[in-house]
Amino acid sequence: MDKITVVGAGHVGATAAQRIAERELAREVVLVDILEGVPQGKALDQWESAPVEGFDTMVTGAQGYEETAGSGVYVITAGLARKPGMSRDDLVQKNTAIISSVAEQIARYSPDSIIVMVTNPLDVMAYVAKAVTGFPRERVLGMAGILDTARFRSFIAMELGVSVEDIQALVLGGHGDSMVPIVSTVSVGGIPLTQLMSEDRIEALVNRTRKGGGEIVKLLGTGSAYYAPSSGAVQMVEAIARDKKRVLPCAAWLEGEYGLDGLFLGVPCKIGAGGLEAVLEVELSGGETEALGASAEAVRGTMELVQL
Ligand code: APR
Repeated sequence: MDKITVVGAGHVGATAAQRIAERELAREVVLVDILEGVPQGKALDQWESAPVEGFDTMVTGAQGYEETAGSGVYVITAGLARKPGMSRDDLVQKNTAIISSVAEQIARYSPDSIIVMVTNPLDVMAYVAKAVTGFPRERVLGMAGILDTARFRSFIAMELGVSVEDIQALVLGGHGDSMVPIVSTVSVGGIPLTQLMSEDRIEALVNRTRKGGGEIVKLLGTGSAYYAPSSGAVQMVEAIARDKKRVLPCAAWLEGEYGLDGLFLGVPCKIGAGGLEAVLEVELSGGETEALGASAEAVRGTMELVQL
């Protein structure tokens, strides 16, 4: 791939750009932010690490979108974090305005690109980007499930004292509180987790995963998680850039899958050069179907706050 753009040179965006460059997923990474000098400064600093880290991906910074023209993928991390005193509605309005302006520029300069949305509330910001760009669902995806499953997998690995690499897990639904872990699909080197861990302990780890974002916010004092979120976004970028056909939990626009229509929700997706190449359907228990429905309702509730 020639060019990948990361919009928002904050914690998540800058870290994502660095990971993309270090893995040489494109010949050039462009970091865009409204802040004067910041994207250029971070980009130059990253490029100056290239001789030591050994990558040839050029990293550049920009305030505008002209420099991003022809990008194959845009990772969007631009936005405001919720500040004390700011209501959820307020945050949705403010980030909707930001994502709308970003999406307009993307459609103008790179009409064939694929968008990976990271800005929260994720499922709803992906909807804003899709509506504003008019891109087909194949080319607008949201990153959440990879992060939620990564948290769950890391907690399971710690508890069992085994490699994270051997743990597979699937999480559906909205990001965070309303996520729906499909416990029957969790395996440790092919062994069902339910044979290695008590129900109580699994439930405790599920709850810790649900509150995973909040746990980091509390520890940091200011700001929110960015190492794991940027890893999740870059895994999606890699699947696209290298046409890997990976099966990853991503937020995709549903058109009847799982009995749901007209919203972004976390589901297992096949991701390759075309972006979303298929939505895979898993058989769910009655309880899981109900939880997924509730998760969809929560996302729809936030979608209603959006004025485009
Ligand atoms: N265009 C480009 N960049 C913008 C715009 C805009 N219109 N508006 C704001 N930004 C930039 C800010 O200047 C800031 O540098 O977005 C960046 C956001 O960075 P941080 O505040 O560090 O936030 P971060 O921790 O990176 O999180 C970004 O990702 O995981 C989600 O919930 C998180 O929605 C948040 C997003």
